[in-house]
Amino acid sequence: MAAPLRLGLAGLGTVGIGVVQIVQKHAAMLAARAGREIVITAVSARDQTRNRAADLSGYAWEADPVALAQRDDVDVFIEVMGGHDGPAKAATEAAIAAGKDVVTANKALLAHHGHALALSAEAAGRVIRFEAAVAGGIPVIKALTEGLAANRMNRVMGVMNGTCNYILTRMEDAGLPYAQVFEEARQLGYLEADPNLDVGGIDAGHKLALLAAIAFGCQVSFDAVELEGIGAISIDDIRHAADMDYRIKLLGVARMTGRGLEQRMTPCLVPMGSPLGQLSGGTNMVVLEGDSVGQIVLRGAGAGMGPTASAVMGDVMDIARGVRVPVFGIAAADLAVPVAAAVAAASAWYVRMTLIDKPGALAKVAAALGEAGVSIDRMRQYGHSDAQARVLIVTHKATRDDVNDALARLAATAVVLGAPVALRIEEV
Ligand code: HSE
Repeated sequence: MAAPLRLGLAGLGTVGIGVVQIVQKHAAMLAARAGREIVITAVSARDQTRNRAADLSGYAWEADPVALAQRDDVDVFIEVMGGHDGPAKAATEAAIAAGKDVVTANKALLAHHGHALALSAEAAGRVIRFEAAVAGGIPVIKALTEGLAANRMNRVMGVMNGTCNYILTRMEDAGLPYAQVFEEARQLGYLEADPNLDVGGIDAGHKLALLAAIAFGCQVSFDAVELEGIGAISIDDIRHAADMDYRIKLLGVARMTGRGLEQRMTPCLVPMGSPLGQLSGGTNMVVLEGDSVGQIVLRGAGAGMGPTASAVMGDVMDIARGVRVPVFGIAAADLAVPVAAAVAAASAWYVRMTLIDKPGALAKVAAALGEAGVSIDRMRQYGHSDAQARVLIVTHKATRDDVNDALARLAATAVVLGAPVALRIEEV
């Protein structure tokens, strides 16, 4: 049998302990499958004294993850600390400089510094693997870089933040307002320390940018992702969407268009009967569309100890077996510089507004949309109260710019109360 593969594990939170548990409980199986033993030699975390759900007594302790990354008895540096700058970045750079392969669950680090890290890793002949960074336990990076490597990808889509999907599903199932479900999610411990990472779409946007880089062979460009969170979605929007056989999802969509790379992570309506429309609770789903394979749907746990550790260890197993794939599927030096599509493709839109209930109000709304070049497909008016009427419009295909123009014109009609909500309807 080949020499054992020696792991240095930085971060002993939920994911790190999940990794320790797999290495310990499946030692014989991992060795049989990899053709060599997989051992942890050293670990690092902020607090050595904390009680943890694993026996760490056999491992050397390093207070500093950079020192861990540089140890002679570490072949693979596993980074599950989090944070896109600071110790995670310093330790990852140190690992590459010291000639180690890297496995990371850190989407923020790669979304911000992925290209530079990939360049230095590949110049040093090392790999960086990050299956756990995107959609938790779903092996989507492997699917894209290996199983679908012979496809030109047309579109990549995903619901990749379980917390947002939990919130939206729970609002619909229990008929509760956003603020109350947000609070529930906080009490259940679902929210990141900075909740805006979840509900602002940033965490899912990081994941989409990583998938887009692989799918379309270009440098990661998180800054070009159009981001919109779920904070403005009301229980009424969810009910109106359901009335028309749609569900609202925080949906990521990336595609290469003739006008450049389109990347957006925004609340969208999707058909209720589609796999994305059926996705409930904290589960993730990634939809991959390739020219030869057609559409593939992957569904599974996007977070949590077991699923995330499973993804980390899948990467470790590949390294143990000698599988070496460029970080983003194409040598980093050959990745294209992406041109961001200035305007996303046209689509149908759901527009919800409250009107002053007086003669001619609806005519003014229709005129405002018409002047912006936005054509109405369907329209519904819901119950009147206090001289107000809720109006819902589904448009024919229109660009974001045209819809924004329509919203500005609506605001000038003096018959629309408050700000209308406009959500894209994605064909899936
Ligand atoms: N907070 C994320 C989620 C998991 O809710 O899916 C980590 O990316």
